[in-house]
Amino acid sequence: MTAADTARFCDYLEAKRSVDDESLHKKTFQRFTDHLKKSGVPIILDVGTGTGAMIRRIVKSSPAAKLSFYGVDESEPLLREAERALGELFRELGYSVSSRAGFISAARGESGVEVRLLRGDILDGQLLPSLSGIPFSAVTAHAFMDVVPLAETLAAFKRLMRKGAALYATINYDGTTELLPSFADRSFERLLLAVYNRSMDDRRVGSLPTGGSRTGTTLYDEAVRQGFAIAGFGSSDWSVFPWDGRYTRDEEVFLRALVETIYDEGLKHGEIAAGALGAWKESRVETVRSGRLALNVHQTDLMALRR
Ligand SMILES: C[S@@+](CC[C@H](N)C(=O)[O-])C[C@H]1O[C@@H](n2cnc3c(N)ncnc32)[C@H](O)[C@@H]1O
Repeated sequence: MTAADTARFCDYLEAKRSVDDESLHKKTFQRFTDHLKKSGVPIILDVGTGTGAMIRRIVKSSPAAKLSFYGVDESEPLLREAERALGELFRELGYSVSSRAGFISAARGESGVEVRLLRGDILDGQLLPSLSGIPFSAVTAHAFMDVVPLAETLAAFKRLMRKGAALYATINYDGTTELLPSFADRSFERLLLAVYNRSMDDRRVGSLPTGGSRTGTTLYDEAVRQGFAIAGFGSSDWSVFPWDGRYTRDEEVFLRALVETIYDEGLKHGEIAAGALGAWKESRVETVRSGRLALNVHQTDLMALRR
């Protein structure tokens, strides 16, 4: 990624964070934080941490006086942004903060949080051994399982989790993106969204397919197959609507990025006519600009316990 691409991706992740906060399945999140409350000093591995959104979310929900996090991502620039954002959050919350490259320690009275940020590929033979001795109480994977080979990644998590540890895997795309009001040429938009889904199904890491467009369903079935006990499940659809004709700033950034992503996927497929695609983008950007676009994207959250 170029520096400009990374900056754009960070902006997208930050905008997505508040949309995700609205969307997470409340009862599953509650079950997960209840699990952390019962875990003494919870040690949490956040995989594909990006800018540390899930770590920040858990810190804010303050499930325990002491918390320890390991945030793993293959992108160094995103980890640097996570370190900056976490430092900022801790200061806002009144913690005193000390940090050195990749390690943050925050203290406030009896409360303390430590965060270690590690660069690496979770499926890489080098990273996994360095994590394997750590008694993780939970693994979190937020907007992550669709970009990695699902069965292999779940098996790697299982090896890192002790008996009773929780997997909390959230914002798992599950097949449907709806944009309303419908585009004038409905069959074109239907084809474009099918191509968009197919681009996820065609994604490979090495020779392995990733979670793809039915990650939510596949993850549930695979967790059962690998012997996890399902402890929570529900939909975490992104639903964005311009209440009183306006989006929040984050919603607008998020919608523009989503339209751009669908457009980019359309560009890569020969069956999508370039002229029609350009007209589609112009029209969709205009519906965002004028506060008329409603979005619904079906996703699920899962909590599963290691037996
Ligand atoms: C869609 S982003 C989600 C980031 C973050 N969880 C959030 O929701 O804001 C997926 C993240 O996974 C990271 N990633 C992808 N494959 C990975 C792998 N095999 N190991 C570690 N990180 C990975 C990417 O660099 C990216 O930051």
